[in-house]
Amino acid sequence: MTRGRWLSERRADPWIRMAKKEGYPSRAAYKLKHIQRQYSIIGPGDVVVELGAAPGGMLKVASQLVGEKGLVLGVDVRPISCTGENIRHLKIDIYDPLAPREILRLLEGAGCDVLISDASPNLIGVPEIDTLRQLDLVIRCCEIADEVLKDDGNIMLKAFECPELARLDRVLRGCFKNYKRVTTPPSLRKHSSEVYLVGIGRWKAPIAPLLRAAVG
Ligand SMILES: C[S@@+](CC[C@H](N)C(=O)[O-])C[C@H]1O[C@@H](n2cnc3c(N)ncnc32)[C@H](O)[C@@H]1O
Repeated sequence: MTRGRWLSERRADPWIRMAKKEGYPSRAAYKLKHIQRQYSIIGPGDVVVELGAAPGGMLKVASQLVGEKGLVLGVDVRPISCTGENIRHLKIDIYDPLAPREILRLLEGAGCDVLISDASPNLIGVPEIDTLRQLDLVIRCCEIADEVLKDDGNIMLKAFECPELARLDRVLRGCFKNYKRVTTPPSLRKHSSEVYLVGIGRWKAPIAPLLRAAVG
């Protein structure tokens, strides 16, 4: 896409205009608001970790939801523009083996109540490859959740529809008290097959090894 076309598409996007007007760094803010309205994944006083948080639309929503007694930590390789009293940043690749330890250090060892991921790889436009890379990100996010998410915690992870997702659903349904695959309104999605995997109340068992075994 040329820069001119990209700019005119941005100007025409009502969600981007609304985000600008309401002070959110990105339109992704409205995806979290949509899911929060249905599933109340974040509560006042919660500690929330967001993987793939730049520029910070969802982070700002999470910061408003947890309030002054809560804390939100945004993790990304890119700079996060959203700041606030209850917001912390960590600049790291989530595949870095030190990422879980660094997250826990910034949370003072206590872990988080909610882990969300809106992380996406740079899409190359080949659906088979983009989808598998997104699937691998989901599993990596669950590896991190296994180390930093408290028992009974919640997750919300971005994925793309693909045949393997049914197997992930089966595993996640067994790992959470309540599990749903959620879509946001079509006008909010950049990638038509984008979905969020929402788990409420994790049981104690580790999730990632079960997911790896399920997708082979
Ligand atoms: C769609 S954007 C996130 C938007 C964000 N949730 C918001 O509300 O503004 C996806 C982000 O995932 C990040 N990302 C992708 N792979 C990553 C990785 N391996 N480690 C850390 N961040 C990653 C990208 O840098 C990008 O900022």
